[in-house]
Amino acid sequence: VTAGPTKEYIDPVRYISNKSSGKQGYEIAKSLSKRGFDTTLILGPTNLKISEKINVIKVETAEEMFKATQKNLPADIAIFSAAVADFRVNKNEYKIKKKDNFTINLEKNVDILNYVSNHNSMRPKLVIGFAAETNEIDQNASKKLIEKNCDWIIANDVSKNDRGFNSDFNEVTIHYKNNYKKDKLLYKKKSEISEEIVDRIVSQLS
Ligand code: PMT
Repeated sequence: VTAGPTKEYIDPVRYISNKSSGKQGYEIAKSLSKRGFDTTLILGPTNLKISEKINVIKVETAEEMFKATQKNLPADIAIFSAAVADFRVNKNEYKIKKKDNFTINLEKNVDILNYVSNHNSMRPKLVIGFAAETNEIDQNASKKLIEKNCDWIIANDVSKNDRGFNSDFNEVTIHYKNNYKKDKLLYKKKSEISEEIVDRIVSQLS
């Protein structure tokens, strides 16, 4: 399970990141572990206090998250709940001095989910992505399901403050590959959403 944000450093003290708390991914990892899955959580920088007996690999940048993910293949199931920066910065060695104008050049990061879902020899049996969307949520999620070659994509409305990023609550819709059926998991605690996701994983694999 990947979770949390990534940090893309501009210089030694400044970075680009996002609001992800890692909570949703951590709850999924906890639910999997409780059901007996040997679970690894690849976690970006967060304030989470990890108490459960889950193997946690802490990373900061998208590149580190990618390397940690590669090291943990093969796996039966891969779940990508991390909010990975799409771009990185060519990090300046020293703290950048104040200037009137300043341009940051961004380079594309590897799409970790895309890599895993298309790396055929190592592809997990079940590849589950998330889609964080602020508009046309189901349409955009359906597109990502196909483009990223996932088995399921979990659409997450991130336009509201009471769910999604950095909240204890969520509401999501699971889109399944080759199946017009969608499953809406109504507004509830992220721990409960996670249990419902893992229920569906267990029934798919059994
Ligand atoms: O961490 P929380 O505060 O609990 O919030 C949970 C969440 C809102 C972050 C989570 O539920 C969620 O929606 N995660 C996906 C965040 C995201 O960045 O989605 P995306 O639509 O940009 O990316 C689509 C998918 O590709 C995601 O599975 C993402 O992990 C993956 N991706 C994206 C870019 C990249 N370079 N590598 C990736 O693996």
